[in-house]
Amino acid sequence: MRLSILLLVPASCVATRVSSFAGSTSTAVFPPPAAGTASPNDPDFPDASHVGNAGATPTGDEANVIATARVAPKVKTYGPLVKPRPLNKGQGSFDVLQHLGNLSPFRSVDSFGLPDSDELIPDGCKLNQVHLLHRHGARYPNGQSEGTPAAFASTLHAAASKGKLKVSSRLRFLQDWTFKLGADGLTPFGRQEMLDLGVAFRVKYGELLKGFDKLPVFRTTSQARMVDSALNFAVGFFGVQNYLQDYHQLIMIEASGFNNTLASGAVCPNANNAIGNFGRVQNAKWANVYLQPALKRLSQSIQGLDLTISDLVGMQMTCAYETVALGYSSFCRIFNEKEWEGFAYWNDLLFWYSFGPGNPSVAAQGVGYVQELLSRLSRTPISTFNSSTNSTLANDISFPLDQPMYVDATHDSVMTAIFTTMNFTSFSRNGPLPVDRIPKDQTYFVQKLAPFASNLVGQVLSCNTDSAESTHIRWILNDAVVPLTGIQGCRTNKDGLCPLPAFISGLQQRLAEIDYEFDCFANYTIPDPDLITDGRFPPALRKNV
Ligand SMILES: *[C@@H]1O[C@H](CO)[C@@H](O)[C@H](O)[C@H]1NC(C)=O
Ligand SMILES: *[C@@H]1O[C@H](CO)[C@@H](O)[C@H](O)[C@H]1NC(C)=O
Ligand SMILES: *[C@@H]1O[C@H](CO)[C@@H](O)[C@H](O)[C@H]1NC(C)=O
Ligand SMILES: *[C@@H]1O[C@H](CO)[C@@H](O)[C@H](O)[C@H]1NC(C)=O
Ligand SMILES: *[C@@H]1O[C@H](CO)[C@@H](O)[C@H](O)[C@H]1NC(C)=O
Repeated sequence: MRLSILLLVPASCVATRVSSFAGSTSTAVFPPPAAGTASPNDPDFPDASHVGNAGATPTGDEANVIATARVAPKVKTYGPLVKPRPLNKGQGSFDVLQHLGNLSPFRSVDSFGLPDSDELIPDGCKLNQVHLLHRHGARYPNGQSEGTPAAFASTLHAAASKGKLKVSSRLRFLQDWTFKLGADGLTPFGRQEMLDLGVAFRVKYGELLKGFDKLPVFRTTSQARMVDSALNFAVGFFGVQNYLQDYHQLIMIEASGFNNTLASGAVCPNANNAIGNFGRVQNAKWANVYLQPALKRLSQSIQGLDLTISDLVGMQMTCAYETVALGYSSFCRIFNEKEWEGFAYWNDLLFWYSFGPGNPSVAAQGVGYVQELLSRLSRTPISTFNSSTNSTLANDISFPLDQPMYVDATHDSVMTAIFTTMNFTSFSRNGPLPVDRIPKDQTYFVQKLAPFASNLVGQVLSCNTDSAESTHIRWILNDAVVPLTGIQGCRTNKDGLCPLPAFISGLQQRLAEIDYEFDCFANYTIPDPDLITDGRFPPALRKNV
């Protein structure tokens, strides 16, 4: 009798007692310690040079897609990642992975408002030089504070350990879910993003290597994922046989107190206190709005744990991190499209108010890289070290000024700071982001600005001239051309082109209006956040501090 009643109940409604291991951490170590490590001179496994018989090896001419193709290449897929389905998926083409903010895997952006342009060299122009600034590939989560996957896992584990936890319906998967993520480092998929970027960069810009008469210097910072990202880029760009011989990798120390233009927050105290943290204050207000329906819904499927808004943020984060680390996540399909839009916006708020135009310490943090850029563009060594630049590294060896190609690896927050310093105002056009709703006319989307492997490319060109002299510059972010309307002297141009001298003097003017000392070091509180729209403390209010 009892059995037959049970059979009438849909399986998804039966609450399941959870093993006390739910949420526990599982880690794997490879190779197994007893296996030892491989050595390059193992007589049992001679390397290719000893074995010989390599067959033919000519590599042919450099690829030059940027000048020879008729259609620009675009990245539209996510390699081996399983594309998640949101809850109640409709007929549309909604893509959860495009709603993960800075945790979105790389994908080409369609347009930043110049729909008739692409990254192929415009007619009448010739490419002389490129400046690449890119983010590392997908990483494991950092931190265990509230709202992180680790925090959610330990909350769940604590509840399961008391023996009272019961899950049902869409949360049933939690009964044997364990926390499998590492911390901080590059994931296997992140490795692929960097390899892909290196390959794409060689296929697009390989021709420029002909302009080198010594080895290129590429730069990264010392964190493990930064070094791994740079080396994987180099493997993609130079090939696995050559990458150690074909270029120099500069690794700049990334640590508190060290000057480093690619990790500039470390020497800007206001990036690391309540001012820098403002984005978390703002986005917490929004989380309380957009996650209320999900809190109600999911709470019905769990007993023995009172879910909080932070737990739900942690669950959305877990979808993002499990997907880019493990290839698949059960957490993605417990939130609907609207909730994923809410999560994307939660990240937009974080970046706007902590790492973007809405934070008064942010324009200052991009000053060091922009000083370096101007130094490279004008081939004039930096002589005053008054930002995050490091005088020890400012020499021909570690900071050459005559390369046809520059490659720098950095972080999401440094990239968005540099966009603010460069006054890429098309991103911030519609002003401060409200914390109680998603605005209809939004222009600031973090998944387009700073996804994993995000990359900004400056193309230096000679246009409509027989001379080899560079005449123009333009900027391409994630394969879409950036309008340069915020830089004085750069007129509206359908290809995003700006005359080089106007660009240089516009940026010099921009640097002159940024008060590095004040914005990074002064003791102030954030005034009305609506007054901060270009990453600076409002000059008119400085006298009150
Ligand atoms: C500058 O860089 C050098 C080389 O990495 C390092 O030894 C030195 O500590 C750095 N100085 C500062 C102030 O960061
Ligand atoms: C590091 O930056 C500070 C502040 O801009 C500057 O005073 C100092 O000289 C720099 N140190 C080096 C080694 O460049
Ligand atoms: C930066 O952009 C803002 C908004 O377009 C503009 O008012 C300001 O003059 C720009 N700054 C410079 C130095 O071009
Ligand atoms: C840094 O030095 C340069 C060159 O002397 C100067 O033009 C600029 O105003 C200085 N910037 C700051 C933030 O002091
Ligand atoms: C900043 O100013 C406030 C108010 O005057 C003061 O209480 C605080 O100690 C100051 N903080 C620092 C780091 O000087």
